[in-house]
Amino acid sequence: MSNKDEGRPGEGLRAITRRRFFQTAGFSACGIAAVGAAALGENFLEPRALFEPPTRFLLGAPESITPGAVYLEEAHQVYVMRFAEGFRALSAVCTHLGCITRYQPDDKCIACPCHGSRFSLDGEVLEGPAPRPLPWLRVELTASGRIAVNTAEEVALGTVFKL
Ligand code: FES
Repeated sequence: MSNKDEGRPGEGLRAITRRRFFQTAGFSACGIAAVGAAALGENFLEPRALFEPPTRFLLGAPESITPGAVYLEEAHQVYVMRFAEGFRALSAVCTHLGCITRYQPDDKCIACPCHGSRFSLDGEVLEGPAPRPLPWLRVELTASGRIAVNTAEEVALGTVFKL
């Protein structure tokens, strides 16, 4: 071997090192990009659905509700009432800003603790600022003889259900 073929000492070694450095850097950048894309892809594929509780809930048998009683089902924020003409269910959520109302047995009305709205047992607004009556909801009798209320299904005001 002659000195002509070898070039300057260390020249070939530097070129290989530089090439390898750029190859390694390039592969590393591609690897990091691939991992990032995979993480984003997995995040994208995850469902974004919000799981809400069921809108339909069951109570006991119709006989379990005393005639004239106003029963607040706390978990679903619904009043269930039994009168001579039938059953009714009203939302307990105030139509002003969404506070939960309370039945006032002494005044036979429903009152909102937040801004003072008052509703009749028909849900009509007696005093504002609530802009609308309390919504009435569908009441059904299940095959097993229990009362079912669906908070997602409004009915016309004054709709009572014979169970
Ligand atoms: S939220 Fe009921 S009166 Fe304002």
